[in-house]
Amino acid sequence: MRRIDETTPCTADAQRIDVKFQSPGVQISRYKLILRYFIFALLLVVLSACETKPKVGFLMDSLDIERWNKDKALFEQKVDELGGIPLVEVAGSNADKQLEQARKLLEDGVDVLVVVPVDLERAGEIVKLAHQHYVPVISYDRLIKNCNLDYYVSTDNINIGELQANYLTKISPQGNYVLISGPTSDYNAYLLRLGWMNVLQPLIDRGDIQVVVDEFSNYWLPDEAYRILSTYLGANNSVDAIICGNDALASGAIEALKEHNKAGKVLLAGQDADIQAVRNIVAGNQTITIYKPIESLALAAANAAIKIADGEAPSNMDITVNNGKRLVPAILLQASVVNSQNIKMTVIQEGYLGEQDIFD
Ligand code: GAL
Repeated sequence: MRRIDETTPCTADAQRIDVKFQSPGVQISRYKLILRYFIFALLLVVLSACETKPKVGFLMDSLDIERWNKDKALFEQKVDELGGIPLVEVAGSNADKQLEQARKLLEDGVDVLVVVPVDLERAGEIVKLAHQHYVPVISYDRLIKNCNLDYYVSTDNINIGELQANYLTKISPQGNYVLISGPTSDYNAYLLRLGWMNVLQPLIDRGDIQVVVDEFSNYWLPDEAYRILSTYLGANNSVDAIICGNDALASGAIEALKEHNKAGKVLLAGQDADIQAVRNIVAGNQTITIYKPIESLALAAANAAIKIADGEAPSNMDITVNNGKRLVPAILLQASVVNSQNIKMTVIQEGYLGEQDIFD
């Protein structure tokens, strides 16, 4: 057994003394080495964090309508909060361009694609292309038809149509109704109209309601409704209620009504809770709009996208929707009516619109 006494320093002490008497140059190079190891480790951590962040592609139709700007900002925010990288492309209402943008995102290595289709059928090519890259696709708000679509996150659009028609027929259960749908390139336009007819058909059958105009527009834009309604009113025809596919169409209808001194005298329903539409409600020129829970929609889609990118099945896809080819697992959220009485309790309370922007 080794005897430890005051004349024999222990090994650790000896090492400490060793270091103490080394030249400053040797000490610095040791620190440099430690620093290099530290930087290297840090780089590894940063690199591996970058590598594992899922890339989520978001292909949008256009940002012309106010609500889509909210969808974009909220979706980017949610994906980011969930630890993903959002990559957004906007097609400017061009289906060919949207396909090219899909190709670009897939080549850039997105893990999942979320698509607001420009065209309900053409977007099937995006799904096909994505599957060639083993990338699943979520249809956002609008359904992509007749393809092997993976998931669908939206609101219940038939119910939205019913909400609109129910509201107006409660006030005016008889009379001349004008129906202005969105474009046939968007399946939502059909679903809304289905909802309208669910409510209107029994009243039409009874002879209480006449549908005097029933047209699909070419775009979801004001000029379209202005053109359709002006043609009808120009022939001195009468109208009691107008149901429009969205608020942009409703605002075009208001312009046509104004020219015929009928604004505020005809019931009018829109959709999207655009700021101008809510102002029109306050001014008495529009009866209702529909408020879609955009934040919940963006969150549901972002949640699903991140799960899919992580190789897991998305949660809450409780129902299926037939897209003509398959039963697509889906989430359908509920929308609500905004009228002159509940603006504060709905869009303002939820932080969707600012009180000052509406009432000032
Ligand atoms: C539809 C959507 C509406 C409206 C419209 C115009 O697909 O359901 O809320 O925004 O597009 O972009």
